[in-house]
Amino acid sequence: MDDSRGMRLRGTGHAHAKVILIGEHTVVHGTPAIAVPVRRLQIDAIAYLGGTNTTTGPIAPDTARSGTDQAVQELLRQWGITDATVDLRLHIGIPPARGLGGSAACTAAAVRAVAQLCGRELDAAQLYESVQFGERIAHGRASGIDTAAVLASDPIRFERGESRPAACGVRAGLIIADSGIRGETRPAVAAVAARLGDDPRRGSEILTHARELVEESAEFLSAGRIAELGRALSEFHRVLGGLGVSLPRLDHLAEAALRAGAYGAKLTGGGLGGCVIALADPDTESQQRIRTALTEAGAIRTWVTTLGGAS
Ligand code: PMV
Repeated sequence: MDDSRGMRLRGTGHAHAKVILIGEHTVVHGTPAIAVPVRRLQIDAIAYLGGTNTTTGPIAPDTARSGTDQAVQELLRQWGITDATVDLRLHIGIPPARGLGGSAACTAAAVRAVAQLCGRELDAAQLYESVQFGERIAHGRASGIDTAAVLASDPIRFERGESRPAACGVRAGLIIADSGIRGETRPAVAAVAARLGDDPRRGSEILTHARELVEESAEFLSAGRIAELGRALSEFHRVLGGLGVSLPRLDHLAEAALRAGAYGAKLTGGGLGGCVIALADPDTESQQRIRTALTEAGAIRTWVTTLGGAS
């Protein structure tokens, strides 16, 4: 039912999680990166007219929720809707602060719900801009890769604000292991910027190496060269360690996955906590072996998503 402003009584929106396959952090400094949607973890938002905000599911970090709220407020302001209170109910099915894109997905789901509530259509660019508005509040300097990845339905290659589909000829399982430690994206991004800036010559070598690894990975991903892709992922984990964003627990999880037969393993997202990903054969037996090894090494939960198939 519509009211006189074209507003409905209720709007719904959804958005899924993501993992960064390779290129996090250096993407902030201009290298490409590859991200993969994780459709089985998602945020559901319902927007109602009137009332107060409610969140269910794991508690969102304050900054993430405030990014979402402010993105919604900004959208309402742009549409000239100043006389309505929107009650936003979020069911959060993505663990927050784990490098899985929880804050971007919250905002994407919320913005979609509010657009439906208000009887408005958002094109892809408006949706991206609105989610990115919230991400800047949640994360400070944000490359936009989380925003692009939670809005994408297939793997993407992201570089300097532009994303395009990443060809995927690999069929693999991607195991995501939660270290149980909250990730710290904002301080991690600041620490990497300081590290690169301290020694600009070394910093530029690191970025060149990172770019090569991402470019190679894009080729391996496209050509179905799973073993080489795995090696590049593991090497990128070492690059991130050198930039100071790994932790002994994350190194330990990555090593456990490799010992259990993963082709490659690395931290994903901002680091200083969060998750590790491991590249595995598509068969459930080898995936289970790696999941068990990760759990024994201290992961508090694991999920499997698929590369080159439904995720
Ligand atoms: O939100 P996270 O933890 O997945 O990190 C996003 C990726 C970074 O490269 C670390 C930051 C950015 O904005 O690109």
